[in-house]
This record gives sequence, C-alpha cells and structure tokens, in this order.
Amino acid sequence: MAWDPNLYLRFDRYRRQPAIDLLARIDLQAPAHIFDLGCGPGNVTTMLRARWPEADVTGIDSSKEMLAQAREHDPSLTWIEEDISSFATRDADLIFSNAAFNWVPNHAQVMPRLVESLSANGVLAVQMPRNYAQPTHTEILACITAEPSRAHLGTAVSYDHVQPPGFYYDVLAPLVQDLDIWEVNYTHILSGEDPVLTWFMSTALRPVLEALEGAEREEFLEEMRVRYRAAYPPRPDGNTLFEMQRLFLVARR
Ligand SMILES: C[S@@+](CC[C@H](N)C(=O)[O-])C[C@H]1O[C@@H](n2cnc3c(N)ncnc32)[C@H](O)[C@@H]1O
Repeated sequence: MAWDPNLYLRFDRYRRQPAIDLLARIDLQAPAHIFDLGCGPGNVTTMLRARWPEADVTGIDSSKEMLAQAREHDPSLTWIEEDISSFATRDADLIFSNAAFNWVPNHAQVMPRLVESLSANGVLAVQMPRNYAQPTHTEILACITAEPSRAHLGTAVSYDHVQPPGFYYDVLAPLVQDLDIWEVNYTHILSGEDPVLTWFMSTALRPVLEALEGAEREEFLEEMRVRYRAAYPPRPDGNTLFEMQRLFLVARR
C-alpha cells in the first residue's frame, strides 16, 4: 500500500502530540541503541535523536515513500525498509513505536518478541490508536456494507488489531519488571473543509480507496464526506472537533 507523506503530515501537530506524551513517560538516561518502528516520515524519529543525541537511532518502515521523506528530513540517521511485524533484534535499549502497530496483527506474538529484543532494563514504548468504536471507523464499515458491490472491500479493512488494556497486561506483565498502560481520548480541533475525511484519507481509508477506482472511488469518497460531515458537523466558527482514543504502553524488561 502506498502512503502519501505530504497528506499524512498535514495534521502533523495533532499526530505528533501522542508521540510527545509517550516520550515524556520514558525513563532512560543514555540508551545506546534506539529503534523507531513504523517511523513514517521520520519527524518523531528525530525527536528521539534530539532527546538522546549520543544514541544510535534507526528508523524502520515498510513504505518507500515514507522512508524517502525520512531520509530527506534527516540523512544522518539510519533508515531501513523492513516489515515491523517480524522485527527482532538482541540489544535494543529502546524500542519506540507511534501509530504503527495498529497496522500489524497478532499482538499476542508480536509484543513478546519486542520485549525479547530488549537489553536488560531496556524499554518498549508503544502508542496505537484504538478508535474502532467511533464514527471515524464505524462509518467506513457502514459505507462498505451499504452496497453489496462493495463486499470485496471487507478484506481491505482490518480495524481490530489493537486490543483492550487488559490484553496487553496479560501478555506483557509476566515478561517485564515494570509496566504502564494508559489511554487518552484526544479532542482535535481541525480547521478547513471536511478535515476528518482528509485525516483518514491518509490512514484508515487508504486501503479502501486503493481497492477502488474511477466512478466507484468517487462515489465512495462522496458518501464518506457526507457521513463524516453528519458525524462531525463543523462548529459555528467553521472548526471541527473529533475525538481519537489512543492506547499507550511502556514496559521495562
Ligand atoms: C500512521 S504512520 C506513523 C508514522 C510515525 N511513526 C509517526 O508517528 O508519525 C504509520 C506508519 O507505519 C508503517 N507501517 C505500517 N505497517 C507496517 C509494517 N508491517 N512494517 C513496517 N512499517 C509499517 C507505515 O508505512 C507508516 O509509515
């Protein structure tokens, strides 16, 4: 699936905030080896470098487009094209991941492998959106099921990878010395026309739109525009408020 870094970065301020909040909860003095999994355009990766300037920082992503943007953003870091669902190493002092593991299935296997990749006292820090019960996601599913001819799109949406907090407790607590799990419901104040549609065209809607073409794609987009406008009507001043629930976990091996 192709990613569009420019569209994704349009809401950089809001997308970056959870990464800032996650970073603030990491208690590490001088990690030598840092990995940013699903690094995207690299904006967050450079925040890791800024906090720990002596560290060896590697950003990993499967998208060529995102990595090209990341390399341009900071050529001094190491950028690797790789699938993070099978990521494993031996000496990571920090494995950081912002808004990427929601694209990866099988967290019961993936999360323990990440912990095993940490050095002693190493930290795993992950943030994933968990908004599946909100109109952001239910409206996409409703739009697919509204037309029998859209049945094939069902395989393009997999919005159930991220589990409730108790799941991560059960999987991770036996493996680590310390574990924090929390959720935040961010209210984003967005300007412009149909900003929720624009936001999700670069993420959750992307696989669906890629599976459509021509008039069918236009029809689907128009229907989503109407659905999102109804679910997230603009305020009298033109701004639109929408809520994003996000799950955080910080585990120390
Ligand atoms: C929403 S972006 C987040 C980018 C960045 N972490 C940030 O906070 O701005 C999700 C990123 O995860 C990457 N991604 C999704 N699934 C992946 C996988 N299985 N392996 C590697 N990267 C993946 C995408 O290519 C994309 O760049």
